[in-house]
Amino acid sequence: MSTEPSFGACGKCAPDEISHVWERVNVPIEDKSYDILIGPGILSELGNMLDQFMPGKNFIMVTDSTVEDYLGVDLMNILEAAGIKVSMISFPAGEESKRMDVVVDLARKMVKLGADRSTVILALGGGVTGDMAGFLASIYMRGIPFIQIPTTLLAQVDSSVGGKTGVDLPEGKNLLGTFAQPLRVFADIGVLCTLPASELRNGLAEVIKYGMIWSSELFDMLEAKWWDVVNLEPHVTADIVKQSCEIKAHVVAEDEREGGLRRILNFGHTIGHAVEASSDYRIPHGEAVAMGMMAVARISEARDMISSEDVERLAALLDRFSLPRIIPEYIDDDSIINLIQHDKKVRDGRVHFVLCRGMGHTEIVDDVNSEEIIRAVTACRE
Ligand SMILES: NC(=O)c1ccc[n+]([C@@H]2O[C@H](COP(=O)([O-])OP(=O)(O)OC[C@H]3O[C@@H](n4cnc5c(N)ncnc54)[C@H](O)[C@@H]3O)[C@@H](O)[C@H]2O)c1
Repeated sequence: MSTEPSFGACGKCAPDEISHVWERVNVPIEDKSYDILIGPGILSELGNMLDQFMPGKNFIMVTDSTVEDYLGVDLMNILEAAGIKVSMISFPAGEESKRMDVVVDLARKMVKLGADRSTVILALGGGVTGDMAGFLASIYMRGIPFIQIPTTLLAQVDSSVGGKTGVDLPEGKNLLGTFAQPLRVFADIGVLCTLPASELRNGLAEVIKYGMIWSSELFDMLEAKWWDVVNLEPHVTADIVKQSCEIKAHVVAEDEREGGLRRILNFGHTIGHAVEASSDYRIPHGEAVAMGMMAVARISEARDMISSEDVERLAALLDRFSLPRIIPEYIDDDSIINLIQHDKKVRDGRVHFVLCRGMGHTEIVDDVNSEEIIRAVTACRE
């Protein structure tokens, strides 16, 4: 058990420096506005913060089996030491658990623990935990509040913000779900130190995406500080999580339910999902998104919407972060085209593509034809 302030702080920050690195981002969704707190060492202070934020409440921490071992048990001790009433329930780690029957199982455990409408769920884990625990909160007794405590980079920069929750069906990912905003997000960057490199890359692909679609300054910073980024230097990590959350907060506040602006967050994902599915999910999500970003950048380049120099900058940054940009030969063109046409985001039979319009800007078009896609994919084969 550890109740030292360095818990979740990676040991890279001097103790007196820790809270000075904390950042706050507001998600200004009407009636449901909430804050994201970002920095190292937040979890060691969580007991006091929950006590002030929601005094006297009963909490149930939902986590996966891996995060339970890495963080859950220590965090329970910290919260209990601060006088917080909390229980923990968990499920086996991994996307395979993101199913309705696992949610029902968790709900039954909550009933057994006496959870009622005043109970608050703490979702401690990556995107799978956040999506499932958020979904559970949104349907348990017709809806109870929840707090996100994201522990992967992907969850800190993306999935914990914006209120999309859900589970998978055998027919496809995220087919059952709700929009439900958390009360608050606590993103302790110190916990990222135990993250496997492949999981770190999944998050970095999304951070690069934000640079491409919204902020050339963020992209410049990733290029200039790439070494600090991959080594999780605390100030730089806090900064990229903050900038990413600011962008996502802005986008989802303008378009909570993906009718318009939110679609730009799919940059690189349409071709990326097709590559991921064609590989039978052997290619991890972040790597597939990296290939997808490269392919749409090539389509944009062919349409003179972005310079060749900027496309090469994207390629070089993906290399820096060990994100692959070459689409393997075994993923054939027909399978990519076929999957794109059956993407669940296709509207009225037209595939919407988010293209680059210079660095940090996008344009959504619905007239990209199969030949253009194949030409771009071919350019990404070497
Ligand atoms: N709701 C949204 O807006 C949104 C956006 C993007 C992705 N998603 C969803 O997010 C999910 C992917 O999230 P993910 O990549 O975080 O996967 P994940 O939750 O499965 O986490 C990846 C792995 O890392 C482990 N892990 C988590 N934190 C750790 C830590 N600090 N140290 C060591 N290991 C740790 C987990 O146990 C798991 O094995 C997908 O289901 C996807 O659909 C949702």
